[in-house]
Amino acid sequence: MGLASSEELMPTLRALLSSAAAPTIAAASLAACSSSSDTNDAGDDPLTFARTIEPLVQEKCQTCHREGGVAPFPLVTYEDVKGMGALAKLKVQSREMPPWGAFDDPSCTVNHAFRDDLTLTDEQIDLFVRWVERGMPLGDPAKRPPARAFGATGLADKTATYRLPAPYAVVPGKDDIRCFPIDPGFSDDTWIGGSNVVPGDPRVVHHVIVYVDPKRQGVEKAGADGSYPCFGGPNVEEPSLLLAWAPGVPPTSYGEETGLKIPKGAHLVMQVHYHPGDEARTDQTSVELKTLPYKPGYVAQVILAGNAERADGILRLLPGPNDPPSGPAFVIPPNAKGHTESMELTVPEKIGDVAVPELGVYAVGAHMHWAGVDMKIEVERKAPSAAQPAAECLLGTPKYDFNWQRAYQYDAPLDGLPTVGPGDKLRFTCTYDNTTDNRHVARAMNELRMSSPPEIRLGETTLDEMCLGVLVTVRRASLLD
Ligand code: HEC
Repeated sequence: MGLASSEELMPTLRALLSSAAAPTIAAASLAACSSSSDTNDAGDDPLTFARTIEPLVQEKCQTCHREGGVAPFPLVTYEDVKGMGALAKLKVQSREMPPWGAFDDPSCTVNHAFRDDLTLTDEQIDLFVRWVERGMPLGDPAKRPPARAFGATGLADKTATYRLPAPYAVVPGKDDIRCFPIDPGFSDDTWIGGSNVVPGDPRVVHHVIVYVDPKRQGVEKAGADGSYPCFGGPNVEEPSLLLAWAPGVPPTSYGEETGLKIPKGAHLVMQVHYHPGDEARTDQTSVELKTLPYKPGYVAQVILAGNAERADGILRLLPGPNDPPSGPAFVIPPNAKGHTESMELTVPEKIGDVAVPELGVYAVGAHMHWAGVDMKIEVERKAPSAAQPAAECLLGTPKYDFNWQRAYQYDAPLDGLPTVGPGDKLRFTCTYDNTTDNRHVARAMNELRMSSPPEIRLGETTLDEMCLGVLVTVRRASLLD
């Protein structure tokens, strides 16, 4: 990489794996939260929209609440924020807004901060609440910060968009898992520096996983409509994972130094899980990619781990509540609250003849379905060091929400990331609320006209469950050659 202009540096500053907040705005709102300068402002209440609340809303709300953002209404003008003030107070107090699932609790303290953390501090929540309770004063308009500028939504600097060639007719009333082969036309090995999924009809797209199909087998399986059913996986040899998307996952950007490899000539297979709606709909989802015009220094790899079904092997289900006498089983009884399923993966020393390398964990995410309320991912290391403790909690999501899944990226340099290596144990603990107190369960029951919550088992469809960790890993490219 040569000398970068500030324009070229933007993607690195931008939230990798998110639609980041600009650091200058963070600084501005910090300044606004300190009251030391307020005394210069005789007669002006310091807790005003102009001085305190607008910078906060710019930093923590407007990435979504603006024209063209994912939220259904803007929080840009004073009138916008005042109009929503009473409801916003409740949502901010309950930490439902801004949507962010990862928090430390007594069972899990994460050693690194996350990039583009949307959470509000207790102090910020208190300021917002007090401002609403005081009648939402505007204050001195001359003290208002300049409007925050935003780029286009979607993946910045994308180099290609692959859209389903034709609208796919989604069958009402049943889960449908379809694979769509795509030829990206890469005649050389290609490095992907960023990706994004734009669901065609967000009401029916439950998840999208894009696989690399090195042997171009998907296309042979596709029918006249360009797709094939693919419950469980793309059903091709040697697939690897390019990206996993579920509602709430923002565009992924790996920055300038890291890329995910697609071998020359490979195809992609886009697996879309459509969940049952009550009417016929069509969908034409697309995938956006940013290819790097060079070979980066670090290689990224997306690993999905968890969903253990058995109590033996390198991935084993651990004993838990409500297990039958025969041993551990993944079963969530109807009306169970705080039910946990936990599992442990021992990272093998070798896969086939190939020694498993130590990987840096770049980002982590949790994936469960409607009943999931918290997932914890921990590592126990075989060979700890000063930088890599014997035990570490990688992620805890006590505010998990199916609608807001994302990978949480550590705010750490590439050579300072937590590592996972051969012999280490990864433990996944998932907590479920299978009662009508869980609004997702209540809604699904209503949609499916059920009178009580179902018994839930491990599976792919909406009313099955999962306990799946998403680990975006990196290692130096030079170690691969
Ligand atoms: C990452 C995107 C995102 C951010 C950041 C965000 N919101 Fe939202 N917000 C949404 C979406 C999408 C909805 C509508 C769906 C929902 O309620 O989950 C929403 C809904 C709301 C609602 C209505 C809730 C309801 O029950 O009708 C309020 C109020 C709100 N947001 C306030 C805020 C405030 C205040 C902030 C900043 C402190 C904020 N949001 C930050 C995406 C976001």
